[in-house]
Amino acid sequence: MSAGQPPEKKNIPVDEAGAVREVLRGPLDAIHAFKTSRDEHLPDALPADPFPMLHEWVEYAKARNVQPNPTAMSLATVDDSGQPNARIVLCRGIDERDGSLWFFTNSHSAKGWEMSGNSKVAAVFHWDALDRQARVRGLAEPLAAEASDAYFASRTWEKRVGAWASDQSRPVVSRQALLDKLLNTLTRFGIDPANPPAADAILDIPRPPHWGGYRIVAFEVELWVGSNARIHDRARWTRPGPGRPWSAMRLQP
Ligand SMILES: Cc1cc2nc3c(=O)[nH]c(=O)nc-3n(C[C@H](O)[C@H](O)[C@H](O)COP(=O)(O)O)c2cc1C
Repeated sequence: MSAGQPPEKKNIPVDEAGAVREVLRGPLDAIHAFKTSRDEHLPDALPADPFPMLHEWVEYAKARNVQPNPTAMSLATVDDSGQPNARIVLCRGIDERDGSLWFFTNSHSAKGWEMSGNSKVAAVFHWDALDRQARVRGLAEPLAAEASDAYFASRTWEKRVGAWASDQSRPVVSRQALLDKLLNTLTRFGIDPANPPAADAILDIPRPPHWGGYRIVAFEVELWVGSNARIHDRARWTRPGPGRPWSAMRLQP
C-alpha cells in the first residue's frame, strides 16, 4: 500500500455474517417476543427508597442471563475543564443501607484522577433485553482499604497480576511493550510465564496501592421501564444528602 492510499477494507464474507445471524436468531427472536409482549410499569405507589428496587433490578438482570455483563454501567466523571468523560465499569455491589453503588478501578487512571478532582459522578445501567434503564447521580468516595483488600483477594491471580502490570489510561508504545510489562510483572512475582500456575491457584499477590474500590453515594436515582403496549414509565427519587429521606416523583417518559 503506498502512502496516502486508504487502508484496504476488510468485509466480513456474506456467509460468515449469515452464520452469525443464524446463531443469534433464536435468542434475538426470544428477546424481541419478550419485549413486544409485555406492558410492564413501575408500582403505582412509588416506594419511599429506590435502592431495594434498584438492587432487585440488578439481581433480576443477572438471573435472567440475557446479556454477558448485566452489572455493566456507564460511569461518567468530569475532568478539570468541566468536560464529562464516560466509560463502562462493572458494579460490584449495591449497599441499600447507605444508598451506594460500588465499583473497582485504578485510582491513577483518567477516571481516578477525575474523581479525585471532582467527586460528582453519574452512572447508568441499560438492560436492553429487559427494556429497563437505571440512572444514578451521586458523589464518589474511595472505599476503606479493608474492603478493597477483600475484593482484590477474591480475584484470580491473573487479574491481580494484570492490576500491577497495567498503568491504566497511560500511553504505551506498542502491544509488545505491554506484553513485556506483563512478563516483567510475572517474573517479579516469581511466576514462570512458560509454566504458569493453574487459573485458580492461590498466590500471594498484594493489592497495588493505586487499585481499589469506590462507592457512589447517590442523591438521585431514576428507574425507567419501556412498555411496548402503552407508554414507558419513569420515576425519579432525590434526597438532600446521605441518610436523609428520599422524595419520589413520576416523570413523563
Ligand atoms: C464490559 C466492561 C467492563 C469493564 N469493567 C471495568 C471495571 O470494572 N473497572 C475498570 O477500571 N475498567 C473497566 N472496564 C474498562 C473501562 O471501560 C475503561 O476502558 C478503563 O477503566 C479506563 O478508563 P479511563 O481511562 O477513563 O479511566 C470495563 C470495560 C468493559 C467494556
